[in-house]
Amino acid sequence: VFLELDGEGPNYAQLIRAIKAAIVSGRMSSGVRLPSTRALARELGLSRITVLAAYEQLRAEGYVESRVGSGSYVNSLRTEPALKPPANEPIAPPSRYAGRARAVQDRLLPRIHLGVRFDLQYGEPQINPALNAIWGRELARAATYTPMRVSLSQGHLPLREQICRYLALRRGVQVAAEQVLIVSGSQQAIALTARVLIDEGDAAVIEDPHYFGAWQELTAHGACLVPVATDHEGLICAQLPKSAPRLIYVTPSHQFPAGSTLSLSRRLELLRYAEANQCWVVEDDYDSEFRYDAHPLAALRSLDHGDRVIYIGTFSKVLSGALRLGYMVLPTSLRDDFVNAKFLCGFGCPTLEQAALAHFMENGGFERHLRRSTKVLRARREALIAGLHHHAGKRVQVADSHAGMHVVIWLPDYSYAQIDVLIAMAHEAGLGLYPMAPHYHFPPAIPGLMLGYCNLSTTDIEDAMCLFGECLDAIDASVLSPT
Ligand SMILES: Cc1ncc(COP(=O)(O)O)c(C=O)c1O
Repeated sequence: VFLELDGEGPNYAQLIRAIKAAIVSGRMSSGVRLPSTRALARELGLSRITVLAAYEQLRAEGYVESRVGSGSYVNSLRTEPALKPPANEPIAPPSRYAGRARAVQDRLLPRIHLGVRFDLQYGEPQINPALNAIWGRELARAATYTPMRVSLSQGHLPLREQICRYLALRRGVQVAAEQVLIVSGSQQAIALTARVLIDEGDAAVIEDPHYFGAWQELTAHGACLVPVATDHEGLICAQLPKSAPRLIYVTPSHQFPAGSTLSLSRRLELLRYAEANQCWVVEDDYDSEFRYDAHPLAALRSLDHGDRVIYIGTFSKVLSGALRLGYMVLPTSLRDDFVNAKFLCGFGCPTLEQAALAHFMENGGFERHLRRSTKVLRARREALIAGLHHHAGKRVQVADSHAGMHVVIWLPDYSYAQIDVLIAMAHEAGLGLYPMAPHYHFPPAIPGLMLGYCNLSTTDIEDAMCLFGECLDAIDASVLSPT
């Protein structure tokens, strides 16, 4: 039998692979005698020890058997049907979950303008090159001092303690470390919430407009979503359904993506509704770190005396989405179920990253980073708003929320069709614009745009707004010019 060695790795391993392939393919059938070790070594130019080691391994794995005084023989193997090459045709969803998860993929993120000069996409936090070096030092330190053990499913205790301090100081939330669960970002927090709280067909209220990641996750878990409209005071609580939903997902600090802040009276109304209907409120506090006015509002959770609010925070916006670290503050009655769900979903989060972050928070580096980022973002936001006023003037209404990482503008004098043309024209000119409509269940009568400004310098933002004004001029001219 012709045995071809593939040249990968040690000789004995190559020989084992070659003989196995010959046996499995049937070229060496059961009962056939293997060449003597001396003969095979000579034929393949290997040492006899190498061949002996390979035969020994094949014997141990049951491919061959040795008969005393007679040599080694191929064992009779149960012949497996030849593996079929994977078919290319799509298969039907293997489960109801897979079917729903496929269906929600169709609702893609808003268009991404790859490679344009000025991309006003929302999502990525401000990329601060210094953070890489800082993080490198923190990780190296953590690797030196942290035992390489899997951390508790609930999360590394020093990090949970730091989060408690941070929440008390910045979000007005007094909580003990036992109520905090570390997760790999808010998206996982939403997924765990769906797993723990939702059975197929359960109603879940979602804001309209809403964060599409929450919509996707809850739908994939089989929730029946009930969109409730929002206005300049956030969720319109008077429109909450008469029959109790399982949960209400809200972004009270900075409504995603429209930007309003849930007013105090609505906050109290929402909590009263949750208590009266025994449902849960999921507070996604995704970018509350960035507030540019004097009075940052405390989190909804700080008013929650009935213990109905599941609070979600993330480091994705303030540090980097690449960290995949976030946290939840859980109502006491739900804590164990969430910790179980996290355990079943891959145990805890990576220990070293959690230790590094805990130390970064403890030594004040996180707070410094936060202050620096807020200063940079405030300047960028001001440049954007000034540029809009200067180049777009009264043609746009700025829904300025004094918070977050993006600004929403409404264009009451333009149709949806014109905004599509504007977006295409801006793309050609090197400017990436993103519509508001895909974030709605019931898109509003007036078209809007979402302008993310995190990763453009103030000079770039001024140039981008100048381009924006020129594109608007072109749209106006095309309306005015006779066709
Ligand atoms: C409102 C909102 N919630 C949650 C997330 C998910 O964040 P994470 O990276 O923490 O999973 C995002 C991400 O953009 C978001 O905008």
